[in-house]
Amino acid sequence: MGNQLLAGKKGIIFGALDQNSIAWKVAERCHEEGAEFILTNAPIALRMGVINELAEKCNADVVPCDVTLNEDMASLIDAAIAKFGKVDFILHSVGMSLNIRKKKAYTDLNYDFMHKTLDISAMSLHRLLQTCYEKDAINEWGSVVSLTYIAAQRVFPDYGEMAESKALLESITRSFGYHYGVKRKVRVNSISQSPTMTTAGSGVGGFDSFIDYANKMSPLGNADANACADYCVTMFSDLTRMVTMQNLFHDGGFSYTGVSKEVMDKFGTNA
Ligand SMILES: NC(=O)c1ccc[n+]([C@@H]2O[C@H](COP(=O)([O-])OP(=O)(O)OC[C@H]3O[C@@H](n4cnc5c(N)ncnc54)[C@H](O)[C@@H]3O)[C@@H](O)[C@H]2O)c1
Repeated sequence: MGNQLLAGKKGIIFGALDQNSIAWKVAERCHEEGAEFILTNAPIALRMGVINELAEKCNADVVPCDVTLNEDMASLIDAAIAKFGKVDFILHSVGMSLNIRKKKAYTDLNYDFMHKTLDISAMSLHRLLQTCYEKDAINEWGSVVSLTYIAAQRVFPDYGEMAESKALLESITRSFGYHYGVKRKVRVNSISQSPTMTTAGSGVGGFDSFIDYANKMSPLGNADANACADYCVTMFSDLTRMVTMQNLFHDGGFSYTGVSKEVMDKFGTNA
């Protein structure tokens, strides 16, 4: 049982593919906290995934939306308006790199793939916000959260073109956050999450050893998907009303750690 932090709130949750997805955990927590929402994913993911299990558990409708298509985005937002009037929160938990999937190195990118990656992983946030803005689909003090990674600020060699995608996503968060704040007092933030074992995460080369490294570099250890879901709930709640246009690190302290004792010890003379 939750604390009903989201009682009466209505939302849309993008990106629950399977039980490991961060969006899956967010949906479960939002349900526990009393929210009602629509679940959405790309049509192909809906066919291959197990989202109906989650929908049943959370008493949610499932509406398909390929985030690269204007008409899909428009009909999703129309469906949300038809069901709820306006919504109070949206989770954008969408990302995919075609070059990483095809194992193309950062120095050998295919630019058609890169266009698609940027469209899916970053421009989709703009498409979502612009569609909501035009249709006036979000209540005042509503909250939109996207998920990002610290590769937007620092180099992680195997993260490929997703680094550029996340930099663009965070920039859209700031820019649209400004415009939506002025127009409707809608908040827009990104959460920069620890590496997490999911379908998208495990596509990145060397992910197992990297997750271990990040854990040893973080004073609190890696933040898992359940902790991320808790943070999303607070960001959707009224307790964070004045937070907008921010990139919020949710990483157990990784982002501000230069080096940890545990990592140093591996390089000492006694290592
Ligand atoms: N897993 C990590 O280590 C980690 C760390 C930081 C940030 N993130 C971010 O968290 C978010 C969620 O990823 P996840 O780790 O839960 O993995 P995931 O693979 O479970 O989720 C990614 C989702 O994007 C959806 N998607 C892909 N193309 C789409 C399209 N065209 N239209 C609509 N949906 C589409 C997929 O179907 C999937 O549900 C992503 O933005 C990811 O970059 C993940």
